[in-house]
Amino acid sequence: MTATPGQTLPWDWYDGIIPTNVRVAPTAYIETAFSFYLFRGERPDAVTIGDGASTYLGTMFDVGPRGKVTLGNYTLVHGARIICESAITIDDYALVSWNVVMMDSYRVPTDPDLRRPLVQRVPGLQPRRLDNEVPALPIHVGRGAWLGFDSCLLPGVRIGEGAVVGARSVVDADVEPFTIVAGNPARLVRRLTAEEMAHGR
Ligand SMILES: CC(C)(COP(=O)(O)OP(=O)(O)OC[C@H]1O[C@@H](n2cnc3c(N)ncnc32)[C@H](O)[C@@H]1OP(=O)(O)O)[C@@H](O)C(=O)NCCC(=O)NCCS
Repeated sequence: MTATPGQTLPWDWYDGIIPTNVRVAPTAYIETAFSFYLFRGERPDAVTIGDGASTYLGTMFDVGPRGKVTLGNYTLVHGARIICESAITIDDYALVSWNVVMMDSYRVPTDPDLRRPLVQRVPGLQPRRLDNEVPALPIHVGRGAWLGFDSCLLPGVRIGEGAVVGARSVVDADVEPFTIVAGNPARLVRRLTAEEMAHGR
């Protein structure tokens, strides 16, 4: 059974459809269309889910009108919030654990005087939520990277190939390939050993 854009998922507990501008490879798996509850993407290629890729319960495609999310082949997304106004790209074989947050924009300005009119507008909006445009910086997760649970990627960061982000880390800068980073803010723990990199390469 496959996920078909414009239709519900045969195995789903939620009766929403997969948006028509989501491209799903025949061997990809989407656990529930509820993952698109916050989806507002307008691009024809707003979300692409590659061959053998899987997205599980808790994953939310919180994608704005111009956002573009790309999940590579055999990526595994275990309940992440993907907040995308520009581009979030996750390369092949990357593993994204529970409750990871990736945000390519902060959605609201830091100036409280600018935030006040935004929240005042919310009661008159349908759906009733913040609606605002701020600069967005694309996020890139390299091939085979692993993002530990509860980690957070801030706008503009690039996670190198094969890198590991420790659980509950906040990543505010680029991460070199084949390294482990951890903490808030995330800092280099160590580089992968030759033995760790030899496996499967
Ligand atoms: C990063 C991780 C992979 C451990 O890597 P490791 O090379 O075995 O690291 P170690 O346990 O030897 O720790 C090395 C140092 O990093 C620190 N560290 C490790 N993980 C950390 C984290 N998540 N946050 C902060 N510091 C961390 C350790 O305290 C240690 O510090 P020290 O040198 O000052 O004593 C692991 O801690 C982790 O976070 N795994 C994610 C697990 C996960 O999300 N699983 C979900 C299933 S998909």
